[in-house]
This record gives sequence, structure tokens and C-alpha cells, in this order.
Amino acid sequence: MNKKFDMMSIEERRAYILETAVLDEEDLEILKNGGLTTEMADSMVENVIGTYSLPFSAVPGFVINGKEMTIPMVGEEPYVTQSTMHGAELAAKNGGFTAIASESVMVGQIQMTGIANPKTSRLGILRAKEEISRAANDCDPVLLKLGGGCRDVEARIVESIQGSMVVVHLLIDVRDAMGAQTINRMVEAAAPVIERITGGKANVKVVSNNAVYRIARASVTIRKEDLGGEEFVDRFVSAYAFADADPFRAVTNNKGVMNGMIPVVVATGNDTRAVESGVHSYAARTGRYRPITVWEKNADGNLEGMIETPMVVGTVGGTSRFHTAARTSLKMMGITKAKELEEVIVSVGLAANLGVLYSLVTVGLFGDFDDARK
Ligand code: MEV
Repeated sequence: MNKKFDMMSIEERRAYILETAVLDEEDLEILKNGGLTTEMADSMVENVIGTYSLPFSAVPGFVINGKEMTIPMVGEEPYVTQSTMHGAELAAKNGGFTAIASESVMVGQIQMTGIANPKTSRLGILRAKEEISRAANDCDPVLLKLGGGCRDVEARIVESIQGSMVVVHLLIDVRDAMGAQTINRMVEAAAPVIERITGGKANVKVVSNNAVYRIARASVTIRKEDLGGEEFVDRFVSAYAFADADPFRAVTNNKGVMNGMIPVVVATGNDTRAVESGVHSYAARTGRYRPITVWEKNADGNLEGMIETPMVVGTVGGTSRFHTAARTSLKMMGITKAKELEEVIVSVGLAANLGVLYSLVTVGLFGDFDDARK
């Protein structure tokens, strides 16, 4: 890229994207028009009278797991794309991000009521794992064929204001889907089996957004020279210590991470509320709200960064069935698998955090990022 992408005209950017990403003229046309007609919107949700547009930006130069890619970002906040791009540039100079996502295992919950003997009933449920799993799996043979389905059944005793409650968890691998609807159907199907075994009544049956089994992680190492020396590495580490110690700062740190992640979640037609609720509950898992990113100095004095968070997004089903721009976003990144998308999203979150922290510990938010490196 001879001219910096952010300095190009819109037409120059489009030409660059045509040259470098796997998009064609038709895809660009989709992005120019927003990707969603009122008629398409009407088949997505209820009570539609129109559609609503947001800026669609592209961020080239991301290197994730050795692959160079252009990231689509949809959002309204100025400077977010720019500082994420700066974070991505710093990372790319240093080999880029290394990311890994777990299997797409989600939790479906069944709240059992009216059980007089919760502890012994719990054992009865565990003994019937196979039958419960079968009832759940029978309602989604396609998922089963794709290698997904119910992986395990857990039974918990939850102490509530109404006394001990038995709560059954189905651990379901939803493969490339976000999975909420699949899980909601599967817990409904399994509930009558659990009612028969326990003699209790299944009350709430629904997915849990506390997606502790669907975790994505990314890391990056930045040479101290690229930050202006070891003093700046120390400033990063100090900024992390502040966020780790003080929830007031941790919440803002995580907001900055989501400045990178959520625009990709939106661009790919995924559920922002599911991602955000999962991130916040994970951030608070130790009993205190903490940052989902970590910054440390390694033995060579270089900066090591890491992000770890639930990441619940899909590449099939949901909005992507209707929204042509969501499908174009996936095409832009060359992504078909949910795991790949999860790895990209956490890497973009880490890039956003890197870019903004670099400004915060050097020239400040209103300074010129390029000045900081002179
Ligand atoms: C603003 O949208 C995000 C920041 O507050 C993030 C941060 O402070 O780390 C700049």
C-alpha cells in the first residue's frame, strides 16, 4: 500500500479492496447500498417500517495466525477504526496476532421446580445422561450430522430464595452457529425426560449467555523498540495493573476492547448483546470486575498482550441468512467457520486495546499517534 489507507479517497479505498480482498464489484455494490432492503428486513424482525444505516469501514493489514486480512467494522464512534488500525499495524510489524478458539460448546439451562429431594434427584439426572442427550439431539439431526450435538449433561444444586433448586445444564456443541435458537429447542425437548425422572416440573428452559465453554484467546508480542523503549512497556504494564485493581478503569478498558470487537460482530450480522453479556460476566468471574486483556513485560523487556473471553458468534443461520452485507463481511475475511471468526474478533479487540492504550500512555487521546513514535 503506497498511500496510507485512511488517507485515500473512498474510491481509492474501494479500488484497493477490489485488488486485495476477495471481493468483486457486486460485493462492493452491496456495501454501497447497506445490504438490506426494507423487504429483507421485514422477514428478519417484526413491525418493520424501514432500515437504519451505519458507517462500514475496512481495516486492511491485520495479521492473524499468519494470514493477512482486511477486517470489516461497522460502528458510529470516530477514532475507533483508526486506533484499531494502529494497534493492528504495531502487531503486524511484530508478526501479528496468534489466536485460538475452543469448540463451540454452549450451555442450555433447565430449571427444575417441585423436587423434594434435590441431592438424590441430581444423581438420577446424571444416571440418565444418555437418555436426556438423545432427546435433545433427536430434535436437531442436521446439527448431529455436522458433528455437533449434546456433549454432556450436568446437574447443579442452586441455593435460591426459594431453597435448593435443581438446575440441569446441557452442554451443546453448536458448530458454526451462534446457537441460541438450537439450544432453546434442545432444552425444550429434553425437559419432559427430566420431569419424568425427577417427578419435578421444568420451569425456565433457555440458553445461558454465560458462555464459559466457548472461549477465544489471542496474544501478541510487541518489541520495546516499536513502542519507544522499555519505559513505554512499563507504562503499558502499569496501565494494566490499574485496570486489574480498579473496576472503574477495568470497565472502561473493556469498553475500549469492545470498540474493536463489536463493529466486527455487527458487520457479520451477529448478536452484540450475547457477546457483551458473555464478556462482562467473564470479566467478573473472580467476584471482582477485571480487564479481559492482560499486558506484561517479558524477560527481554518486550510487551506481551493477551485477551481471553467468551465469544459467541456464528457464520451460519441467524442474520447472515437475510443480510447480504453480513455475508460480504465474511467473504472479505475469507471466513466460513465460527471458530475462525471468534479468533478474528478477539484479535481485533486486542488491537483496539493496544492502539488506544498506546495513545493513553504516550500522547493522550487527543495527541497524534504518529507523533508518539517519532
Ligand atoms: C472510548 O470509546 C474508549 C476508551 O475510553 C478506552 C480506554 O480508555 O481504554 C478510550
